[in-house]
Amino acid sequence: MDLIHTVGELRKRLGGERSIVLVPTMGNLHAGHLALVEEANRHGACIVTSLFVNRLQFEPGGDFDRYPRTLAEDCAKLERAGCHVAFAPEERELYPEPQEILLQPPKLAEQLCGDFRPGHFQGVVTVVAKLFNIVAPHTAIFGRKDYQQLAVIRALVRQLNYPIAIVGVETVREPDGLALSSRNGYLSSGERTEAVRLNRNLRRIKEKIEAGERDFGALCSFAIKDLTDAGWKVDYVAVRHQRGLALPGPADRDLVVLAAAWLGKTRLIDNLEIRA
Ligand code: PAF
Repeated sequence: MDLIHTVGELRKRLGGERSIVLVPTMGNLHAGHLALVEEANRHGACIVTSLFVNRLQFEPGGDFDRYPRTLAEDCAKLERAGCHVAFAPEERELYPEPQEILLQPPKLAEQLCGDFRPGHFQGVVTVVAKLFNIVAPHTAIFGRKDYQQLAVIRALVRQLNYPIAIVGVETVREPDGLALSSRNGYLSSGERTEAVRLNRNLRRIKEKIEAGERDFGALCSFAIKDLTDAGWKVDYVAVRHQRGLALPGPADRDLVVLAAAWLGKTRLIDNLEIRA
């Protein structure tokens, strides 16, 4: 596997490749990321994994500075997973001058995480568009844990006519149901035990809806109370239509329940698709 730090070197390395699959990450790789690389392997091309902690998508006072940077370990994992190129640019390589051109994310970004993380999706679409322009992949792989991000990126590709297939990969979970996340590393051992409550509440909502319950508001309020009573600070628990994350009507069938909540200083997100 080649470890490349500059755009120029990367373009030179990819020059002769006929088809490229991109796996964009912020590093600190866990089994969830490696599932993305495994999926990339199925697309049988040159696999490029980017490792870049993108300051633009962190809100002021967010965890940009403490976000774990583990490049050597990440490269060892990528090599074993069959990745061909790790692209790990310095900040000044991707942002050599102030990034004044910022992409406007679609409307669906103005809710859920967008309500609580101002500027976050603008930072995401801007860096993802830059990576698409630099790497020119035919396929890009993203995790479904960041469900809203995936919907935003699909809109980016549609609306800016990128000739790139977007593939979403199922969330990888701990045996108790907690979705894998680099931020799980911030949890104390007590918080780690408690963290499963988020997924447990989503599973309860999914089961109730699949059993015919239609009062989505009441189901979400119950979950918010359960989390709050246990000491969480809840950003949202919401049921949405899978496509475009619109508010669902009672007759809608393809739903998703999404949540974001703080356990101590750690913000966790999760979601489950529902076929009602
Ligand atoms: O999902 C992530 O890790 C990031 O948001 C991404 C897509 C790599 C952009 O920085």
